[in-house]
Amino acid sequence: LEATEAPDSAQPRRKDPSEFRSARWFGPADLRSFGHRSRAMQMGYAPEEWTGKPVIAIVNTWSDLQPCHAHFKTRVDDVKRGILMAGGFPVELPAISVSESFVKPTTMMYRNMLAMETEELLRSHPVDGAVLMGGCDKSTPGLLLGATSMDIPAIYLPAGPMLRGNWQGKVLGSGSDSWKYWDELRAGKITDQDWLGVEGGIARSYGTCMTMGTASTMTAIAEAAGMVLPGGSSIPAADSGHIRLASESGRRIVEMVREDLTPRRIQTRAAFGNAIAVAMAMGCSTNAIIHLIAMARRAGHDVGLDDFERYSRRVPVIGNVRPSGNQYLMEDFFYAGGIKGLMGRIREHLDLSCLTVTGRTLGENIEGAKVFNDDVIRTTANPIYGEGSLAVLKGNLAPDGCVIKPAAMDQRFLKHSGPAVVFDDYPSMKKAVEDESWDVTADHVMVLRNAGPQGGPGMPEWGMLPMPKKLLKEGHRDMLRISDARMSGTSYGACVLHVAPESYVGGPLALLRNGDTVAVDVDARSISMDVPEEELARRRAAWKQPEPRFERGYGWVFTKHIQQANEGCDFDFLRTEFGAPVPEPAI
Ligand code: FES
Ligand code: MG
Repeated sequence: LEATEAPDSAQPRRKDPSEFRSARWFGPADLRSFGHRSRAMQMGYAPEEWTGKPVIAIVNTWSDLQPCHAHFKTRVDDVKRGILMAGGFPVELPAISVSESFVKPTTMMYRNMLAMETEELLRSHPVDGAVLMGGCDKSTPGLLLGATSMDIPAIYLPAGPMLRGNWQGKVLGSGSDSWKYWDELRAGKITDQDWLGVEGGIARSYGTCMTMGTASTMTAIAEAAGMVLPGGSSIPAADSGHIRLASESGRRIVEMVREDLTPRRIQTRAAFGNAIAVAMAMGCSTNAIIHLIAMARRAGHDVGLDDFERYSRRVPVIGNVRPSGNQYLMEDFFYAGGIKGLMGRIREHLDLSCLTVTGRTLGENIEGAKVFNDDVIRTTANPIYGEGSLAVLKGNLAPDGCVIKPAAMDQRFLKHSGPAVVFDDYPSMKKAVEDESWDVTADHVMVLRNAGPQGGPGMPEWGMLPMPKKLLKEGHRDMLRISDARMSGTSYGACVLHVAPESYVGGPLALLRNGDTVAVDVDARSISMDVPEEELARRRAAWKQPEPRFERGYGWVFTKHIQQANEGCDFDFLRTEFGAPVPEPAI
């Protein structure tokens, strides 16, 4: 993306302690401040511990049902150690952990809740800066969206990927190998006993999924956008380097407060260009598109699907990490030089002048970066996938666009047309795919609708529709699938995702019927249904919106305000340009 603003080269003026936000709570010689001070002393703190010091919030997404952040319960102490060392005053503020492994119907329902929680936690408390502790899929965008809207100095601390999985000497990758061995089990190629072995071996340590799923993609994006200390997003959770990253993040945020280095100064339009370039080079999760659009828009930049399409056409996939790559995992990626090594190899696609949390530029941060294994981090001359690892398709089935990941699918479906088999809900589709007498062929196009932002609700990761059992037994492992859902970043296959507008709100996908011919041509970036316009008009007139998903509570707010996938699925009222800026709370 072209920079629309001049690089932020102003010499940092160091803030005087009297200018800290927290001084408004703790400083004045009045009754209210007496209350704040006496209540801090109630917790055993002496005035010397906070007076004149930046108060640093540690927004911690630890919970007992968040395995990816299990180490945060104690890792937060390392962050505190860093903050104290640098002369700050650490305060831990817990936030919803958006656990991908347990939260139903989908964490996507709650990304915006975390975003709101982060923004309001920071606004309502006496804090000057924040360390954001996240990593599991939606936690990264959730925390960053909130911190960006609040715009006090913030640094992101990614949880780090878990160790490689292991079963019978075979390396297992999060997600990807669950799908793979599940299909093998259903095809009768492995036993129930084997399956139990996979279950026990696939997640061996705390940390995020170690394939290039949404977690690893989003933390890499956070780093490329300037919000993580150099190389931090690749360090495995169980590596002692991660502990040092935690304390260093604590030390650095204290200085960032003094320099008033805020998320919006870092996250310029050009910084999001860097984030997209890195996402492409990593062979990113399709979820990244939605989150990045939302994040860029919160920072005030109108980034959209076309920007992804442009970068995808010029940045090759050089991170040989599953599922786009065929063999390696994040641990291998780290040993090979990690994200610094990768960024060093795509320098020509990056704007090296972008400012980062270090107070230095991206170019300075990756100075001298090396790659130690050319198979894990390829050269641009020898990529995993040349160009177009993600493609944005448009046409009468998806006027506002949809997404496919050519880098992780059977290439024979890049240009394909076939008769549609359409499902209105997940249970009926699930029943059909298990039915071995179903006369479906690998040339059919399987369609699931009512799985979008409002219809899902929350756009569940159903987009890798399960292969019909009959086709699996015939030896097929891929077919063209279309939905308005998302798919896990660890998934693969010829799956068209994020169809916008979604069917639940009356997008054209709602009008498709069994037997209609659907055509996808990735080279032409097109997707269409071969149904005459008059017939579509008739179907549109007869269409009725499905029942509302929620009539009270958070779900009701969600369905009323969620935007479509191509707009980043932010709430309309959280958009930066929605209404006047929120004032600082009156004291
Ligand atoms: Fe948390 Fe995959 S489940 S990162
Ligand atoms: Mg995931």
